[in-house]
Amino acid sequence: MKLDKNTKVYIAGCGGMLGRAVYSYFAKRCIVKATDIDLNIDWLEYADVRDYKSMEESINDFQPELIINLAALTDLEFCENNAENSWLTNALGAENIALISKKLGVPMVYISTAGIVDGEQDVYNDFDAPNPLGTYAKSKYHGEVFVKNYLEKFFVFRAGWMMGGGPKKDKKFINKIYQQIKSGQKELFIVDDKLGTPTYTHSFARGIFKVVETDLYGVYNQVCEGDCSRYEVAVELVDLLGLSDDIKITKVSSDYFKEEYFAPRPASEKLINMKLNARGINFMPHWKEALRDYSKEFNTDLQSS
Ligand SMILES: NC(=O)c1ccc[n+]([C@@H]2O[C@H](COP(=O)([O-])OP(=O)(O)OC[C@H]3O[C@@H](n4cnc5c(N)ncnc54)[C@H](OP(=O)(O)O)[C@@H]3O)[C@@H](O)[C@H]2O)c1
Repeated sequence: MKLDKNTKVYIAGCGGMLGRAVYSYFAKRCIVKATDIDLNIDWLEYADVRDYKSMEESINDFQPELIINLAALTDLEFCENNAENSWLTNALGAENIALISKKLGVPMVYISTAGIVDGEQDVYNDFDAPNPLGTYAKSKYHGEVFVKNYLEKFFVFRAGWMMGGGPKKDKKFINKIYQQIKSGQKELFIVDDKLGTPTYTHSFARGIFKVVETDLYGVYNQVCEGDCSRYEVAVELVDLLGLSDDIKITKVSSDYFKEEYFAPRPASEKLINMKLNARGINFMPHWKEALRDYSKEFNTDLQSS
């Protein structure tokens, strides 16, 4: 489908890390209605993906030509402790939106996660079989299965370790490290036994837009190029912040954090964009290039504090 200034795009769960980037990319090019349950910015309207009836009303009022579902509970420990809510949000929410997309006859975009693999192999391509370990991964995978079995016109994009949103919105690794640095910590303890592929929200948003335009429906790994451990990401970030001489980074194993991060995580969730590459539609940069760009937001914050 051609996406232009007259195309109506509905985005659910748009108030988070990825939502900022997707809204910013799409709203410049299309007519967007963005919703979430957390109304943290003025362009968001309220809609809860768990509630079929009100979701359908919110979408029908707008009559979109494309629906993007970003809504999820993304904190793995929260999901373990709140399993019912995770299933309702991540799985039933995706089902609800798929049913509405089907009724309206419009394509749907669903964001899945690299975390649906079990980590038994080193790298996963788009065709490798998922085997989700924890509640977050299981509920996200159910959403993926439902969308792809139920709809003809769908895109499932599997993302890796998300980077985006900056010091205020980023809920994940980069900001967790940054907040420790900002609070004056001089030694960071970082795991080196978890491997993955960082995924920059701004490149990911552009990727969604460009791939949707191709009409090549299906499931896609969409992560930054290259792969790494959490330790390597932390070393790179500290270097980009110009703090390599001031901060010591100590490698630890996942056991070190087993109380705090108790949800099961695969040892490797490295993805490769085999299908995007084969079709010549891989718009993702190398993770180091993406982190260089992203670190500017943290540099600015650090200098102003
Ligand atoms: N973060 C990652 O590392 C990562 C990796 C791979 C895939 N993904 C996927 O990428 C998508 C976007 O995630 P993100 O990284 O932007 O996470 P995020 O910052 O947590 O954004 C998700 C948004 O969905 C909202 N939400 C939660 N329950 C909802 C409901 N019932 N109805 C409507 N909205 C609801 C959240 O609100 P609250 O803040 O109130 O919960 C939040 O604003 C998700 O599908 C996620 O599973 C994320």
